[in-house]
Amino acid sequence: MHEFIAGLPKAELHVHLEGTLEPEHCLALAQRNGIPLEHKTPEALIRSYDFCDLPSFLKVYYSGIRVLVTELDFFELAFRYFQRAASDGVVYVEAFFDPQAHTVRGIPFEVMMNGIHRAQCEARAVLGLESNLILCFLRDQSAESAAEHLAMSVPFREWIVGVGLDSDEKNNPPSKFVTVFADAHAQGYKLTMHCDVNQMNTLDHIRECLDLIKVDRIDHGLNCLEDEQLCNALVERGIGLTICPVSNRFVVQSLTSDAIRTMLRKGIKVTVNSDDPAYFRAYINENLMALIDEAGFTKEEIKQLMTNAFEIAWLPDARKARYLQQLEQYAAKYAITDFC
Ligand code: ADE
Ligand code: ZN
Repeated sequence: MHEFIAGLPKAELHVHLEGTLEPEHCLALAQRNGIPLEHKTPEALIRSYDFCDLPSFLKVYYSGIRVLVTELDFFELAFRYFQRAASDGVVYVEAFFDPQAHTVRGIPFEVMMNGIHRAQCEARAVLGLESNLILCFLRDQSAESAAEHLAMSVPFREWIVGVGLDSDEKNNPPSKFVTVFADAHAQGYKLTMHCDVNQMNTLDHIRECLDLIKVDRIDHGLNCLEDEQLCNALVERGIGLTICPVSNRFVVQSLTSDAIRTMLRKGIKVTVNSDDPAYFRAYINENLMALIDEAGFTKEEIKQLMTNAFEIAWLPDARKARYLQQLEQYAAKYAITDFC
């Protein structure tokens, strides 16, 4: 199974670039930029990753972000993740980034964009890895701030495929951002939003995503299983869910493997991703292996998860078809039948 997962052509659709900041790199950047950190060794930093819910995770995540200052920092952050992804057999990435977490510290929007974009170009040229960016608004900031950042993205429109919504969900429903997401849609951006697992009013949030915002995808969204109508709507509209099992284990103490399996059986376009792999200590292959080792997922189920990922990717149809063909050819080597 390790060999099968390692060689499987993969798409990652839910990874926060800032969540790929490895402890060693965090310490090196802190030193280079003269930023004091409470923890002085990678081991001590990792020991501090003892989150038990979304707010406690976000506290650690935003603390790490402070070391990212220069264009080179952003380049290194993204390129190191792309190197790791490519060596894990990922062929296509849609990566989130959180501009408001940087502009609030005085980092110009273009510094961040230029660093990340240069890493994307180099990853394409050197690693053969294709990627797109999703600009995430922080839902615990104001709708006005989101609108200002959407405006800042205009000169970089060609470098960004869609917009998302992340950070602390409590009392920050999708409806708060209806105008800015409508404007983003009018500018041709694809739309997605986090509906983190077991959040307050989560079913209302998922409904708002579908009916008010009219998202193209939902990040997490696993609680949809509590409502048959929601499940039917997701299937009928072909809306994909980007699930992150190891992340779920940190914030809701469960790998959520039963839910993932149920969604597969219902025909929901569910996918498996890493979320914040440096913090959860698991990249995409470790997430897939956790489902195999701990919940007995079969090659057929894993292949279906990856088929879903390429199908819901924000790529032109011809590119998707090429990746899906690559996946089929790989699956044929293992005599994998279709999942049903
Ligand atoms: N920002 C980074 N990771 C996140 C997550 N898993 N949920 C919400 N906001 C995030
Ligand atoms: Zn996320």
